Amino acid sequence: MKRARGRHSRGAARPLLVALGWEDPAARLGNALRAEPARIAVRRFPDGETYVRFDSAVEGRAVVIAADLSRPDEKILPVLWTAATARDLGAARVGLVAPYLPYMRQDARFQAGEGITSRYFAQTVSAHIDWLVTVDPHLHRYRSLDDLYPVPSRVVSAAPLLAEWIGAHVQAPLLVGPDAESEQWTGSVAGLLDAPSVVLSKTRLSDREVRVSDADLSAWRDCTPVLVDDVISTGGTMIETVRSLVKRGLPGPVCVAVHGIFVGGAREELLAAGCRRVVTCNTVPNPTGEIDVTALLAEGVQSFMA
Ligand code: R5P
Repeated sequence: MKRARGRHSRGAARPLLVALGWEDPAARLGNALRAEPARIAVRRFPDGETYVRFDSAVEGRAVVIAADLSRPDEKILPVLWTAATARDLGAARVGLVAPYLPYMRQDARFQAGEGITSRYFAQTVSAHIDWLVTVDPHLHRYRSLDDLYPVPSRVVSAAPLLAEWIGAHVQAPLLVGPDAESEQWTGSVAGLLDAPSVVLSKTRLSDREVRVSDADLSAWRDCTPVLVDDVISTGGTMIETVRSLVKRGLPGPVCVAVHGIFVGGAREELLAAGCRRVVTCNTVPNPTGEIDVTALLAEGVQSFMA
């Protein structure tokens, strides 16, 4: 495990918590950490450049930046400039809580000439922070964030929370993973609930279109299918899986994901395809974020505060 730079000495001032686009959960996170909400102005100049000013004292303090990084291109520079400013003002350590960690899916050069942007993003962010805490990053070709991020990180697993929600809301669940990559969540949740699970296979045809394999699920007609995945982005994966299950006579599935990005009208399209309910963690601000991850994130952050 990598070690964080700098020190947080005994008797030091409370950590400063900066919330960027994730305000409500960040307030709960701050309470759990006994952190002081930072007085800070982060705004755009008329030409679109970012302005940052801390009104709270920063020198010698631990600074925790909790940021929504869904649709990251428009949000990352304010985060980086806030971190850079904190360091410049003498922060003891600057950590980033990114409940949803973007740029994880371009984890290989799939076609000649492509950039492996997961790496470039990791290097850029790591130049400005001392540690990182996140929830279930999309680890597929990378085994761990340590393969990618030069700074130390803690990964929080939402699987127990997903299992708790499903256990409380769904009768006789059959966990369905739409593709091999979802097996890590489907398998853990099924294990925690002692419920059956199946994992389908998916072929991606384009950014938005996928084909999901047919499978004989007739043995589970009396169960409620629960699709589990890490990310709903365009919704293509979940929508195609819902359609294929409904076509085979299964009841309308419940869709559960860790991160709900919901590009365009993805949530509405999912419901129109026959999904009876869609629920996600609150890692990205959206109306489906019923499953609260702040207590788990606080545990991850605490490990950098000792
Ligand atoms: C990829 O393998 C992920 O686990 C998700 O299945 C994927 O990112 C979902 O994307 P979309 O909603 O655009 O199909």
